[in-house]
Amino acid sequence: MSVIKLEDIAYVRFAAPDLALMQGFLEDFGLTCFEEAGRLYGKGSDGRPFIYVTQPGEAKFLGVGLRADSIADLETLAAPEGLAPEPLTEPGGGMILRLTDPDGYTVEVVAGQQCEPPAPVPEPRFNSTAAKPRQRETIRLSHAPANVRRIGHAVLKVSDFRASERWWKERFGFITSDEIEAAKDVPLGAFLACDRGDLPADHRTIFLAQLPGALGLMHAAFEVADLDGLMLGHQFFKARKRKAAWGVGRHIMGSQIFDYWKDPFGNELEHWTDGDLFSEVVPPVWTVWRRS
Ligand SMILES: [Fe+2]
Repeated sequence: MSVIKLEDIAYVRFAAPDLALMQGFLEDFGLTCFEEAGRLYGKGSDGRPFIYVTQPGEAKFLGVGLRADSIADLETLAAPEGLAPEPLTEPGGGMILRLTDPDGYTVEVVAGQQCEPPAPVPEPRFNSTAAKPRQRETIRLSHAPANVRRIGHAVLKVSDFRASERWWKERFGFITSDEIEAAKDVPLGAFLACDRGDLPADHRTIFLAQLPGALGLMHAAFEVADLDGLMLGHQFFKARKRKAAWGVGRHIMGSQIFDYWKDPFGNELEHWTDGDLFSEVVPPVWTVWRRS
């Protein structure tokens, strides 16, 4: 049994030497940006107070935020660590518990944030050979950034996958959706999903990857409404001459349609849509690594 179960990922936190430059990128990426107390925040359309934050400083990944169900869960999580939750003095308020994982990553667990009502989402309207829900109406798209709904996952490089896996699972109850081996019986990493009981959750909320090279965030991923939204974002970024990283494509593990871009400081952010949702009744799969 883990100490608690998580609701979802909350945000990713960075530092950057030029917040205006970063804001330009983030607005092209499809986040709604605002500044508060000298920090640059990004929101999606899900009503959460922020899903992205950058503070002034040397360009760096600073940590990942996770959402607990309640402040009581934060206290449960804090007790065995000899810590106590503190007020979260950022947009939305609430409480925060800061932990450090085996590789020194800051893991911020939050609860009790004030949210706004989520914005309405577009109705599905893709016709296929199997079903044609859109009849007697057209699709007309405007040149605009992708409309980011929410943050979905973060991928962290780790130095010892098994040690990290133990740390993250013991505290947060993550379930392995897919484990990847570099070769037979040589673990490379795993896609970890939140355990929401009967309620299906994203195929991955965190991916821990034991890969060569420096530790750090490999990318953070944000869900957009649908394929139209993702392709609009792709065209918008291309027109703005932003730096593409990978995509558009469809992943094998998690099945989502992806599109990866680099921000001005080299961090990689992903747009995705149409991902798998699993619950604990779906057994994990072990796969030898292949790209996609
Ligand atoms: Fe991803």
